[in-house]
Amino acid sequence: MPMRLLRTIAMMIALGALFIVTPVAADEPSPHQREKAPVKAKGPVRITDEELHRHGGTPPGWRFTVPDGDPKAGRAVFFKLECYSCHHVEGEKFPGSATERQTGPDLTGIGPEHPAEYLAEAILDPNAVIITEPGYTGQDGLSTMPSYADLLTLQESMDLVAYLKSLTARHRH
Ligand code: HEC
Repeated sequence: MPMRLLRTIAMMIALGALFIVTPVAADEPSPHQREKAPVKAKGPVRITDEELHRHGGTPPGWRFTVPDGDPKAGRAVFFKLECYSCHHVEGEKFPGSATERQTGPDLTGIGPEHPAEYLAEAILDPNAVIITEPGYTGQDGLSTMPSYADLLTLQESMDLVAYLKSLTARHRH
């Protein structure tokens, strides 16, 4: 049947395309890039000064993005700043990160649950969004999470975000 033959050929082309694409895809994009890919490919946006101002000061469709960090370096920062003293991460071997000592949200599997920019804000400005669970706020009603503004370099905050994005265990945090 010609129809069936056509379908078979189409199928073979599709399969062939898959094989061509596979080695490129194996070039391990970070979880952050993978999430962003369908929205906007990372890379410079080029725009004239006149156009920029005509669009109210940002390119059309622009939104703030956190540059890619290094999850391994971020894990080291998480350790150095003792984030684990308040946040449990299932499967990690941080000292004393026993669940009963936790005073902040469990960060296990947090990666896919929030965009990188939200995680960056949570670190840079803990009071921007306050989760109203018992024990998360102090007498003043503000987050008990300290500000790390004086303790983190920009690179370290980007790395921390990359680390948090890499926490993809299937467990609701
Ligand atoms: C003294 C305890 C404490 C420490 C130390 C601490 N946090 Fe937090 N953290 C909290 C609390 C409480 C919250 C929830 C209230 C809020 O939104 O700030 C929170 C919220 C967060 C959130 C948002 C979680 C969500 O589900 O929205 C992230 C991400 C986070 N912390 C990361 C960190 C990182 C990274 C560090 C180390 C640099 C750190 N925290 C250190 C107590 C802490």
